[in-house]
Amino acid sequence: MANCVRCCCWLLVLTLMALAVAAAVVFVRYRNGGQVFPIPGMPGAVDRKYGAALAIALHFFQVQKSGKLVNNTIPWRGDSALDDGKEAGLDLSKGMYDAGDHMKFGFPMAFTATMLSWSVLEYGEAMRAANQRDSAMDALQWIMDYLVNAHPSDDVLYIQVGDPEVDHKCWERPETMTEKRPLTKITPKSPGSDVGAETAAAMAAASLVYKPINKTYSSSLLDHGERLFAFADKYQGSYTRTFPELSTFYNSSTYQDELLWAASWLYHATGNHSYLRYATGKNANDFADLGNPRFFSWDDKRAGTEVLLSRVSFFASQGSDVAQDNVLRLYKQTADAVMCILLPDSETAAFRTEGGLLYVAEWDSLQHPVASAFLAAVYSDYMLTSGKTELSCSGQSFSPADLRQFAKSQADYVLGNNPMEMSYLVGYGDKYPERVHHRGASIPADVDTGCDGQKWLESSKPNPNIATGALVGGPFKNDTFVDKRENVVHNEATTYNSALIAGLLSALLSTSSLSESLS
Ligand SMILES: *[C@@H]1O[C@H](CO)[C@@H](O)[C@H](O)[C@H]1NC(C)=O
Ligand SMILES: *[C@@H]1O[C@H](CO)[C@@H](O)[C@H](O)[C@H]1NC(C)=O
Ligand SMILES: *[C@@H]1O[C@H](CO)[C@@H](O)[C@H](O)[C@H]1NC(C)=O
Ligand SMILES: *[C@@H]1O[C@H](CO)[C@@H](O)[C@H](O)[C@H]1NC(C)=O
Ligand SMILES: *[C@@H]1O[C@H](CO)[C@@H](O)[C@H](O)[C@H]1NC(C)=O
Repeated sequence: MANCVRCCCWLLVLTLMALAVAAAVVFVRYRNGGQVFPIPGMPGAVDRKYGAALAIALHFFQVQKSGKLVNNTIPWRGDSALDDGKEAGLDLSKGMYDAGDHMKFGFPMAFTATMLSWSVLEYGEAMRAANQRDSAMDALQWIMDYLVNAHPSDDVLYIQVGDPEVDHKCWERPETMTEKRPLTKITPKSPGSDVGAETAAAMAAASLVYKPINKTYSSSLLDHGERLFAFADKYQGSYTRTFPELSTFYNSSTYQDELLWAASWLYHATGNHSYLRYATGKNANDFADLGNPRFFSWDDKRAGTEVLLSRVSFFASQGSDVAQDNVLRLYKQTADAVMCILLPDSETAAFRTEGGLLYVAEWDSLQHPVASAFLAAVYSDYMLTSGKTELSCSGQSFSPADLRQFAKSQADYVLGNNPMEMSYLVGYGDKYPERVHHRGASIPADVDTGCDGQKWLESSKPNPNIATGALVGGPFKNDTFVDKRENVVHNEATTYNSALIAGLLSALLSTSSLSESLS
């Protein structure tokens, strides 16, 4: 009895301390070129489940590293692709392999960096409290080193290393690759505004991350970002129209969404209103398709842009120009509409499976729910931090807690709360995919297959190496899953998926929501 009284007291003291830390953190603001970057999230009260899952998810970036490894702890990984970029006199050895293959595709790799940066900006303190910030920064740095080297002059950006036709036919470990790895670049004559602008977005977002850490480096990233944006805007075109042979891989449906996304990041990073006007002026009319909610993905950045620009509206001081900007208001209204399709009880709710998973596409089916859940968690925190308690969806009213609940439900589905009772995050829980479509994981570390390791692809045995942190494509629409290595639709992991799940888990690290603690 006495013990219990004592422990209740301690609980109360701990709770009060956590609340004090939370309250202090909520009012911390990073000032960035006139824009404020508040930190939602509450370090000091870390949810252990999400903390453990985050550590696992971030591990996948170690698995995917190309180049000369530093302090490698994975016994089956080693140096690889050391000569990437040499034919152009560049060091493109770093960066990350795209998925279960060894391509370095610039378009999704830059998106990975943008999303990692966004996560660190919003939830860096929570990541630090969970001891995961260094790991996220290590991954980000490895990609930024590559992207900086890939942009050797104003109007040249290397967007790919490797020939996807050759690469995809070779089943081998990255450490034993001998095939030629040709380079692809965009130039004024061969434009690629989508990949150029996504890389500009990555540079701008990362420059914000590094601003409090290393000013010189941060400015140089920003400089790359501004020059890349100017290049992408001046010479407009889609990289998969310029290189039609690449359209069977990461086909970019439009490039205008990336231009708006990059301009929005550059506005946050510089405070220069010309970037804001880029996104709110004529381009908003021509490209943004405001009013129509969409899903966020490596191909379509519109929902992300709407949420990112809504941050400007949420935190604008009353009476300021930005608070009165009608187009910014439309961006925010569209972000609201995106949230409304995500909430399961909303009249405009999008389809979800029996098991409760938001389901948009079968190929890489977890991409959309995880990306959407990240946006919902961020939006919920913007609402709470700016004191907004209500989201209106065609007459129905929802709260930030409803958005957070949706975000949690998708994360929990991924981690095992689903009809298969399995985790789709490799290494988390006791049941997860064992035959992930991943060359390195499927071939024993002492085997040199040459290009011809087909038998390891076709083997029915579990992978000899565990690709810890891989988030596989995901289940069928009926919540079932087939753990076969040849099943690229459901059982391949991608580097950008890991950035999305890492962002979502970071957003969920803090254990209680502000609405409960501060109202
Ligand atoms: C690698 O490990 C050494 C020794 O622990 C440490 O000093 C160094 O900072 C590490 N390097 C990186 C890039 O983490
Ligand atoms: C800042 O970053 C630059 C470029 O990566 C590096 O050379 C320099 O050592 C860094 N400075 C500090 C203080 O870390
Ligand atoms: C790529 O996207 C363009 C534009 O949406 C479309 O016309 C084309 O059919 C797509 N190509 C492939 C191979 O999916
Ligand atoms: C803002 O950006 C525009 C376009 O990139 C540039 O021309 C202008 O000089 C910048 N303004 C400031 C104050 O830096
Ligand atoms: C689930 O859907 C897949 C694809 O449509 C189908 O092949 C499979 O048989 C279904 N499984 C069950 C249990 O209904």
